Amino acid sequence: MSEALSSPPLLQVDDLIVRYPVKKSLFKARQHVHAVNGVSFHVRRGETLALVGESGCGKTTVGRSIMRLVRPSSGSIRVDGIDIASLSRRELKPYRRKIQMVFQDPYASLNPRMTAGQIIGEPLGNFDIVHGADRENRIIALLEKVGLSRTHLHRYPHEFSGGQRQRLGIARALAVEPSLIVGDEPLSALDVSVQAQIVNLLDHLQQEYGLSYLFIAHDLAVVQQISHRVAVMYLGRIVEIGETADIFRSPIHPYTQALLAAVPLPDPRKRRIIEPLRGEVPSPIAPPSGCAFHPRCALAEDRCRREAPQVQEFRSGHFAACHVMARNNEYAARPSSREHGFARSGKIANS
Ligand SMILES: Nc1ncnc2c1ncn2[C@@H]1O[C@H](COP(=O)(O)OP(=O)(O)OP(=O)(O)O)[C@@H](O)[C@H]1O
Ligand code: SF4
Ligand SMILES: [Mg+2]
Repeated sequence: MSEALSSPPLLQVDDLIVRYPVKKSLFKARQHVHAVNGVSFHVRRGETLALVGESGCGKTTVGRSIMRLVRPSSGSIRVDGIDIASLSRRELKPYRRKIQMVFQDPYASLNPRMTAGQIIGEPLGNFDIVHGADRENRIIALLEKVGLSRTHLHRYPHEFSGGQRQRLGIARALAVEPSLIVGDEPLSALDVSVQAQIVNLLDHLQQEYGLSYLFIAHDLAVVQQISHRVAVMYLGRIVEIGETADIFRSPIHPYTQALLAAVPLPDPRKRRIIEPLRGEVPSPIAPPSGCAFHPRCALAEDRCRREAPQVQEFRSGHFAACHVMARNNEYAARPSSREHGFARSGKIANS
């Protein structure tokens, strides 16, 4: 096991809850969107953790909470061991530098009135990193690092292609030498060929700087290609998490199985046993009782409607939350599994 894998995680999120208040109507009590409902996971140094799930399941809210663009209702977000969930703006500043975000739509996230040089220079100034002529050299070095050049220094965002704009967004994130980059669907707005170039760039930067990524994505083929581990979210909760190869080879949770069933098989003559997902995601204002997936689950039984399943370890480092699958979980029954430190309380422990 490498040093990175054995050291404490760079990011440790525990029991994160985020509720958004819904506008109060005259006759109703105040309601909340249960956007994130008790999420726990960690990201190690140099690791890519993908966060997947249907639209509205809370992926962006998790990312924005880690950036502290959203204030969590409760739970902890430890960065290098320090809980940033409730730090004030001033106390947050040194931690803001460690985590940067790259957004889905680079055009919307870049100031159209600033040149590329000013866009990359802004965080260098905010964090008082380099000054004078050194700053321009640093900006040019960052442009080159992401495959752009000094000729782009004075161009405005509308003078770049989509892929170049995303490179610029990555250069801005890199400027403050972060440890973790939260990518909120950073490839979704790009053509497939450009996606491949950005995947290569992210991979290269990870190798060079030992960066960690929390990669929020819809495209499971890309997730399979770039992530070390995958966390599957459903209606504000992580229902399965594990090594990418394990999740794709042997998904446990019926929701993960259905998500993967939606990915086309390379051999069209093959058929799947599990059907792709049917029905709509229920409202996060009033999530279903028990297991939130029960209205859409072919395996649901009475207990699923009454009781929320706890997360448990099914194989080494592979966790899921499902009553029915848990009945045949031989791994949890093994006495040695307790020594791995998995939490029966429903939290996903460090593996
Ligand atoms: N500022 C907000 N105020 C109220 N509700 C919000 C707010 N932001 C998000 N939500 C709601 O919280 C839930 C989770 O939203 P979020 O954007 O985190 O989902 P997501 O998984 O990123 O979805 P997508 O894949 O469509 O980007 C959704 O029901 C959404 O409507
Ligand atoms: S707990 Fe029940 S409803 Fe939920 S995924 Fe498992 S079988 Fe389906
Ligand atoms: Mg989102």
